[in-house]
Order: sequence, then C-alpha cells, then structure tokens
Amino acid sequence: MTSSKMTGPKKLFIKTYGCQMNVYDSERMSEALGGQGYVETDRQEDADMILLNTCHIREKAVEKVYSDLGRLRKFKDVKPDLKIGVAGCVAQAEGGEIMRRQPLVDLVVGPQSYHRLPEMEAQTQKGQKALDTDFPEEDKFEHLKARPKAKRAPSAFLTVQEGCDKFCAFCVVPYTRGAEVSRPVDRILTEARDLVERGVREITLLGQNVNAYHGAGPDGSDYTLAKLIWDLDKVDGLERIRFTTSHPNDMTDDLIEAHGTCAKLMPYLHLPVQSGSDRILKRMNRSHTAESYLRLIERIREARPDIVMSGDFIVGFPEETEEDFQATMDLVEEVKYGYAYSFKYSTRPGTPAAERPLVDAAAADDRLQRLQGLITHHQRAIQDAMVGRTVGVLFEKPGRMDGQMVGKSDHLHAVHVKDCSAAIGEVRPVRIVSAGTNSLAGELIL
Ligand code: SAH
Ligand code: SF4
Ligand code: F3S
Repeated sequence: MTSSKMTGPKKLFIKTYGCQMNVYDSERMSEALGGQGYVETDRQEDADMILLNTCHIREKAVEKVYSDLGRLRKFKDVKPDLKIGVAGCVAQAEGGEIMRRQPLVDLVVGPQSYHRLPEMEAQTQKGQKALDTDFPEEDKFEHLKARPKAKRAPSAFLTVQEGCDKFCAFCVVPYTRGAEVSRPVDRILTEARDLVERGVREITLLGQNVNAYHGAGPDGSDYTLAKLIWDLDKVDGLERIRFTTSHPNDMTDDLIEAHGTCAKLMPYLHLPVQSGSDRILKRMNRSHTAESYLRLIERIREARPDIVMSGDFIVGFPEETEEDFQATMDLVEEVKYGYAYSFKYSTRPGTPAAERPLVDAAAADDRLQRLQGLITHHQRAIQDAMVGRTVGVLFEKPGRMDGQMVGKSDHLHAVHVKDCSAAIGEVRPVRIVSAGTNSLAGELIL
C-alpha cells in the first residue's frame, strides 16, 4: 500500500459570463495555463484552480459574480490549496476591491493582461495574492499563441479587434476593455488557418466594434474589415465567415458590398441600435439617428435581400418617455428582426448616464415586456417563412433524439434533421419542413 499523494495534472475549472469575447478569452486562458500543467475540468469540486471570467455590463451580471464567489467557499474549505481567480470585465473595473470584498480570491486579472497569467499563477502557488489590471503596451495575443493542435468544434470565435472608442453614455465597455485596438492581418490569417487545420469550418470574427477594424496588412497598409474578410475568403477549407458586434457608424460601403458578393460571408448581421427615438439616441451619445439606421439597413438589404437582421435595445434609459418608447416599437416594426436582445437600463457607476433621473421601474418593466413580445412575434414569423426554403446547414453535433443531427443554418437558425448521414463539420443543403419555437426541422437534400 502506498500513501503517497497522487500527482496528476492540476485541474482548471473556468466559468464564463458575458459576451462571446469572454468565451474566446477563456479558451486562451485555458491554453496559457496549460503550459503550467493545468487541464480543464467541468467539475468544480475537482478543480485546483477556479477562474471566473466575468461581465460588468449590467448590475445583475456583477451581483451574480459576487454570489458565485461566495458559493466557492465550501470548495476552499475542503481544499485549502484551491486557487480562486477573477478575470474579465469585473476584474478590470473593480481590481483589488474584489479581494477586499471577498478575501478567498487569490488572483485578479484584467482582459488586457491574460498573457501574464502563468506568472501570476506561480505567485499564488507561493501563497501570495496576484493582481494585474494594466493596459500593457505588448500584444497579449502574441504571448498567448501557444496553442495545442487539438481538434476543434466546427464553429470557432476569433478576436480581431478589441476595445471601444464610442463611449455610449450607458456603457462600461470603453473602460473595461480600453481603447480600440486591431490585430495585424497576418496573425489573424495564421490563426484562421490553424483553426481550419483543426476542423473549424466557420469563423466568427469578434470585436467590441468589429467593423471599426483597422489592422495593419502584410504590406503595412491599413485594412478594413471587408478587406480582411476577402483575405479569409481565400483560406481553403474555411466555409463560413461571420462577424460581431458592429456599430452602425462603421458600416462601410465595402462591407455592405461584401454581404452581396462574398459567398462565404453569411446572411446574418447583428447591428445594435439601442433605441428608435432620436432624442434618446442623442442622450445615449450614439451619434446616429433612427432614420440613418433604417436607411443603412435598406442598403444592406439591397446588397443581400435575404439577410437576417439582429439588434440590441435598451428600454427605460433615463428620461425615456412613452413616446420615445413608441418610436423604438415603430423602428422594430419596420426592421423586423430575426433575433434581438432587449435589456432594461442598468445604472453603471462612472458612466455619464449614471447621474441622470431614472424611469419608473414598473414602467420600464412594462416596456420591456411589450418590446420582447413584438420581437418574438417577428422572430417566429421569420422562422415560419423559412419553411419550404433550402438553406446550407453546418452540422455541429448529434441531437437529443436518436438519429438526429443538429447544426446552424446560413441565417444562424438552429436546424435539426433525422439523418445520421450528415457528418459533424459538413455543410449540407437542407430543405426546411417545419418551424418550432427554438429550432427548425429539415430534410437533407442528397
Ligand atoms: N459593442 C457592442 C456590445 C455592447 S454590450 C455594441 O456596441 O452593441 C451588449 C449590449 O448590452 C449593448 O448593445 C446594450 O444593448 C446592452 N447594454 C450595455 N450597457 C447597458 C446598460 N448599462 N444597461 C442595459 N443594457 C446595456
Ligand atoms: Fe458600449 Fe457603445 Fe462601445 Fe457598444 S459602441 S461597446 S454599446 S460604448
Ligand atoms: Fe460583459 Fe465585458 Fe463582454 S462587460 S459584455 S464581458 S466586453
């Protein structure tokens, strides 16, 4: 009998909150800590390190982080060596305050410092606390590229731009992610080719303002997002390109045109507007009007008539009247979104809107319900209209039912077929036969 302690690889549990960029960042952090001997686990109780990759966008998102942190105490009680880290936008916004409020936290790392994680982890192993919320000069992605050649799921995210210079009056992102920075084209292409080699067929380019992309081309020239998309279009084996999130003011002519001419660019566009009232848009510091947004969508639909539009809305922004809200409903009625995300305004300390008088909470709740009702109505109508059409579907995994395969259509609808001949990673034409609440049913066209 041996009583020696098992010394397998250390286990890392990551919980990701917030936007797709956090999903991408969690993958990078996992790879960075892989170099320190960590492997990922999906069981918190087994973990030697628990990392919360957090979101600061609304008050509720932040509360969730603190309540989740409190619940981690029981793991640390049974395993005192367990390291607990906080990454993401709450880490950036609150910094050392997190450790004061929740002393069981060992490590706090902001989004621009992830490449420093290995050193920081080593520091925690010496029993010290580690904190880094700098905006360093060096390119963190260059230091995060030690990627194992493991096989990947068919759809992947790739960050090409980070940060925001827009300063909408309600938003924390310019403070948590910093100024707009674009990655150079050659590094993005190398990463894309690597993803394709590992089985990826669809890449979603990410940025807080992805269409403000202005990376340096291989010859040093300034690239637009459209130019980058055309370079990616030439990557053999890559079948689909998407990008998110865009700002209406950065929707350049070449990007609109690409939606009509680039076959790999999928007919789906997330283009948040936030409100349909010019008075509110002005107070939000959005620097576009409802009319200019609608005209822009007209042009996009001219380029790609079957494009499915998606958007974000805030209701109950300070001083929003019923009339302002009606303007939002009118805009939604006109655009008819295939998807849209609507949120009740949440006061974020330090943002300009935080000083302004709030709308009555019950009125804001009521508006949110009405808006979501209208959005759901359009969403269903657009799904229903897919019945009878043939669309491309990228198959991603087996479905819940026996013999079922599920994937995403060109328009980003979830589609399932009762046919095992569709392999994971294949794009196949599918005729849609019926529409449900959350997905479409189809038949493979052989
Ligand atoms: N860069 C993107 C995403 C920003 S965050 C963009 O410009 O759209 C995603 C969404 O969260 C925003 O579009 C907005 O609708 C919502 N949001 C941001 N701050 C908010 C706040 N303080 N209260 C409520 N919703 C907010
Ligand atoms: Fe926030 Fe506005 Fe920037 Fe989007 S564009 S990240 S909403 S400040
Ligand atoms: Fe949240 Fe930060 Fe993304 S605040 S939405 S995780 S950029």
